[in-house]
Amino acid sequence: MNTPTTAVIGASGMLGRELVSACAARGIDVIGFGGPEALDITESDAVREALRGVKLVLNAAAYTDVDGAESEAAKAMRVNQLGPMNLARTCRDNDALLVHFSTDYVFNGVASSAYRVEEEPSPLNVYGLSKLAGEHAIRDIGCDHLIIRSSWLFAPHSRNFVRTILDLSSQRSTLQVVADQTGRPTACGDLASMTLGLVEAGAKGTFHAANHGRCTWFEFAREIVALTDSDCRVEPCKTNDQPRPAPRPRFGVLDLTETIKLIGKPRHWKAALRDCVEALVVAGRAAPGGQTISPTVQER
Ligand SMILES: NC(=O)c1ccc[n+]([C@@H]2O[C@H](COP(=O)([O-])OP(=O)(O)OC[C@H]3O[C@@H](n4cnc5c(N)ncnc54)[C@H](OP(=O)(O)O)[C@@H]3O)[C@@H](O)[C@H]2O)c1
Repeated sequence: MNTPTTAVIGASGMLGRELVSACAARGIDVIGFGGPEALDITESDAVREALRGVKLVLNAAAYTDVDGAESEAAKAMRVNQLGPMNLARTCRDNDALLVHFSTDYVFNGVASSAYRVEEEPSPLNVYGLSKLAGEHAIRDIGCDHLIIRSSWLFAPHSRNFVRTILDLSSQRSTLQVVADQTGRPTACGDLASMTLGLVEAGAKGTFHAANHGRCTWFEFAREIVALTDSDCRVEPCKTNDQPRPAPRPRFGVLDLTETIKLIGKPRHWKAALRDCVEALVVAGRAAPGGQTISPTVQER
């Protein structure tokens, strides 16, 4: 059997699952490596061995616990800096393209207009620092690469904001959600399609990819609850009302101009959210915590 020429690393994660599906839907012969038990990106020999013959590496593997990174900085740096470094070395040696994902959290959030690709990053938290270190590692090694920064990911599976809000709104009468952080929610399925679109368009270097539109976490949560028949009231609060270990940027809207030039305008996050909630209902899938999501959303 021939080795597939495309590999998805972190294929058990939220984005990784969608990347595998998007490749399969396009007829791309793909191999997915789940978590570290399948391929640990911090192990250079294992990476070299596993990616022999692979020409396109889509790396969705990362340490993604933003608050956890504050107390596990060494682990976050290992996975998010050393991991991409190992992948970049292997891709350079194999003449392969490395597609790697980064985050709006590389910016400090003090801007008031959308962050352009070339703006100077200045992360506020350890996770952002580790992701920026991963970007630098790839550029320094100089393999053929495409770094895609995205934001506020959601999907009908895995742990994410949409599923958490659906779960909580089925259990509580009110929810307080921060209204002083703004970003672009992005469906992982859409990001996977945008990623393959950018690859097909020959994009190299650093790009931003996200769904169109912007909102606060409060507005996002209100929209999620509005798609159900829940009576739960969503109320705005301030970041300071809900202290977390990691500081968050107040503003993480990514400028999409360069990406739109290559692959067109992505759909609005509200349309993507509707599909996500519908997919959960159609699958009859319970939200985390065992609550079944109301089917009335199908009629909207
Ligand atoms: N989630 C967001 O809102 C968001 C926003 C912007 C950018 N991003 C970026 O998008 C990418 C995908 O994020 P996601 O939310 O899909 O992440 P995720 O659901 O947490 O998935 C991460 C994947 O990486 C794997 N992994 C962790 N350590 C590894 C290691 N040492 N070797 C190999 N695999 C390892 C995990 O396996 P286990 O689960 O078995 O540990 C999992 O499969 C990441 O680069 C992230 O920084 C995410």
